[in-house]
Amino acid sequence: MISDKIQEAFNNQIVAELYSSYLYLSMSAYFESINLKGFAHWMRCQVQEELVHAMKFYMFVNERGGTVKLSAIDGPSTSWASPLAAFQDAYAHERKVTGLINSLVDLAIPEKDHASNAFLQWFVTEQVEEESSADEVIKKIQLAGEQGGGMFMLDRELAARVFTPPPETATL
Ligand code: FEO
Repeated sequence: MISDKIQEAFNNQIVAELYSSYLYLSMSAYFESINLKGFAHWMRCQVQEELVHAMKFYMFVNERGGTVKLSAIDGPSTSWASPLAAFQDAYAHERKVTGLINSLVDLAIPEKDHASNAFLQWFVTEQVEEESSADEVIKKIQLAGEQGGGMFMLDRELAARVFTPPPETATL
């Protein structure tokens, strides 16, 4: 059984993951608007990743005998000054999410909730990758010089991203 405190915190995290998904969908729309289709596609893969994150929390709360209670999702920004600014925003957002995950671990440990702690370790590892993938694109944009042929090549590279749903959420 999950405690009320952990249940509430995990419910908040479901909303935070859904917000992440919403933010990246908004970024995808921004990239569509400036005709960077590969960037837009990369962001839509990220949308799917965030939905998986939300669903992992959703399924875990239910499995532990808790109740999922959803609340309002804030509206994301709708435009950015440049592709670089959008990815810098994505990177800053991922760092914030890492902080949220670490806070959940800090909540589970004093409660001696080993199951929640074990569950959260997947997210601890995942956040390393989440931060790194946004940072990698930032560096590539800087190398490409934000315009011209370099950005065209990078757009093609980002178009090749493939989202593979993990088995436990593939049939949702
Ligand atoms: Fe759900 Fe991008 O972390």
